[in-house]
Amino acid sequence: MNQVILQPMKLSYDVEEEIKTLRTSLQFFRDDKRVILFTSCISGEGKSETSYSLASSLTGIGKKVLLIDADLRKGKSVVKIKAGKAGKGLSHYLSGQAPLTDVITTTDIPNFHMIFSGPVPPDATELLSGQFFANMIEIARRVYDYIIIDTSPLGLVVDASIIAEHCDGSILMIESGNIKYRFAQEVKKKLENSGCSIMGVVLNKVDWKKSGKYYGKYYGKYYGNYYGSPYGGAEK
Ligand SMILES: Nc1ncnc2c1ncn2[C@@H]1O[C@H](COP(=O)(O)OP(=O)(O)O)[C@@H](O)[C@H]1O
Ligand SMILES: [Mg+2]
Repeated sequence: MNQVILQPMKLSYDVEEEIKTLRTSLQFFRDDKRVILFTSCISGEGKSETSYSLASSLTGIGKKVLLIDADLRKGKSVVKIKAGKAGKGLSHYLSGQAPLTDVITTTDIPNFHMIFSGPVPPDATELLSGQFFANMIEIARRVYDYIIIDTSPLGLVVDASIIAEHCDGSILMIESGNIKYRFAQEVKKKLENSGCSIMGVVLNKVDWKKSGKYYGKYYGKYYGNYYGSPYGGAEK
């Protein structure tokens, strides 16, 4: 199996605390929500960074985690590799060019495995709709405690709703101050229509200075982050 040594992401203290809050919230769902998708309205809202941080954070509490970069339209991963080579990726596997075992990469973080996206294919949506993707999730469920899937922005392309059919829950990233309420509602609806419950919305890149440090932080922690629904299901 291919192995890479990851370059640690430097998270600010505040972000690190929020990731821990997200992780704790996730544990309350217990075994019901093990395959979790991250999406957003547009690109650059922080899906990759947050999904990576959450996935690696889950290994810190003894969970075995697989992070899948299923944003096939973006060739480059935000994850910086210090040593080793990413090798083959998801697009190779989905197009039948490599077996699953060849695209799973181990890392220097124990119990943290990754599947990189691989080269950008011409037919991303079609590849994700095929049986290969479904098989991969079915196999991974048997091996990992959590499977975190980073996807393309659902406000721009349909891919995330296809992936959502195989997931137990989803998290919608919203970049604070950058997304119109109506657009966010539209994307939320698309996600709900795929039959995958929205576990929560992460309000990212909040300008605490603008929102007032104390009020802002409090709001972020207790409402902005993860508690999409106090009852655990999709928020209607
Ligand atoms: N909480 C945050 N505060 C500041 N910058 C952030 C935050 N989250 C993400 N970013 C930055 O925003 C950019 C886009 O993030 P990324 O995770 O690649 O977004 P996406 O995967 O949704 O396209 C990156 O440069 C990342 O470092
Ligand atoms: Mg990304």
